Amino acid sequence: MHALPHADVTPLRGGPTLRWGVIGPGGIAGDWVDTVLRNTGQRVVAVGSRSLERAERFAAEHGVERAVGSPEALVADPEVDAVYVATPHSEHRRLGVLAADAGKHVLIEKPIGLTADDAIAVRDAARRAGVLAAEAMWTRYLPGFSVVAQLLQNGDIGDVRLATADIGWQVPRTAAPRLWDPALGGGALLDMGVYAFWFARFAIGAAHRIEAVGSFAAEGVDDQLAAVVTGADHRMAAVTVSMAAGNTGLGSIVGTGGAIRFLDPLVFPARFAVRTGSDEQVWEDTSGLVLREGLAWQSTAIAQAVADGLTDSPVHPIENAIEVMRMLDSVRDLIAPPTRE
Ligand SMILES: NC(=O)c1ccc[n+]([C@@H]2O[C@H](COP(=O)([O-])OP(=O)(O)OC[C@H]3O[C@@H](n4cnc5c(N)ncnc54)[C@H](OP(=O)(O)O)[C@@H]3O)[C@@H](O)[C@H]2O)c1
Repeated sequence: MHALPHADVTPLRGGPTLRWGVIGPGGIAGDWVDTVLRNTGQRVVAVGSRSLERAERFAAEHGVERAVGSPEALVADPEVDAVYVATPHSEHRRLGVLAADAGKHVLIEKPIGLTADDAIAVRDAARRAGVLAAEAMWTRYLPGFSVVAQLLQNGDIGDVRLATADIGWQVPRTAAPRLWDPALGGGALLDMGVYAFWFARFAIGAAHRIEAVGSFAAEGVDDQLAAVVTGADHRMAAVTVSMAAGNTGLGSIVGTGGAIRFLDPLVFPARFAVRTGSDEQVWEDTSGLVLREGLAWQSTAIAQAVADGLTDSPVHPIENAIEVMRMLDSVRDLIAPPTRE
């Protein structure tokens, strides 16, 4: 095969800049702010928490300019252009709509809500306000996925027939209580499944049929599932998702003329092998950003989209996020334990 395509991503520096505000000063917010400030030209000007004290502590720890004591105060700040929502899933719809109604562009952590209805409510609020709303499906913004998208679009591995994705990590109850709490949208399906079903859709297109089985923990949240997604023309994707045990994190996309095989967990900046016929080449991320440092890419892509006057992400459009949420809704119904009379 000829050389692999070049990654077509928004550069981390030198492009348009947004003044970001963060809601939800927890684990991912810290990692996001750190990599955005270290690796991009974006500014993070404010952080909002349900407690002013927690916001102030986060601002001091992560170099954010100011702290406020409520999401409402954050979205009212005239010097914030765009809001990054990093709370548990259960708050994504309310805070996404709050930000859009206040006229702010909004990037919402994955999954964009608990259901497709939540995602639609965010989309509609953004449309009304004329702002951009996007799900922070950061994996799609990584250079590697730009290369994979081009390989699929160019037909370099022939017609895609099969995809696999195994997404999961063992989550101790004490380390991440939100994942074990039904009220906060806990469970493996929403937290990890969103990556697996997004990848399935990315690889084989829209789902025509889904089959799934799952298991539930004592708290009432799903802790593991396996599913088969069938798309047009009998394309198939098989996924496993678990927070009960760490699985490989690997995935593959197999076509009639070759295959893409991830060599590292696909959610992160990863290496993958591309086979066409008997030739195999390995693509490696040379950006220097490892693991969650890769969260930086989506911030510059969103800033570029806003500067271009767009109200949707060209990389991960909100309709794709809604479609994935519909897949998660279907899987939730399929794996639900039988109700007792
Ligand atoms: N892209 C990724 O790699 C990645 C990785 C991890 C998580 N995430 C996503 O990011 C989101 C947050 O996850 P996280 O692990 O960072 O969560 P976390 O550490 O529990 O932090 C969430 C923050 O949200 C705020 N919050 C607002 N309403 C809340 C409520 N009702 N209950 C609890 N906290 C509330 C809390 O701050 P205050 O109480 O101070 O307001 C808390 O610090 C999730 O949707 C998750 O899927 C993404």
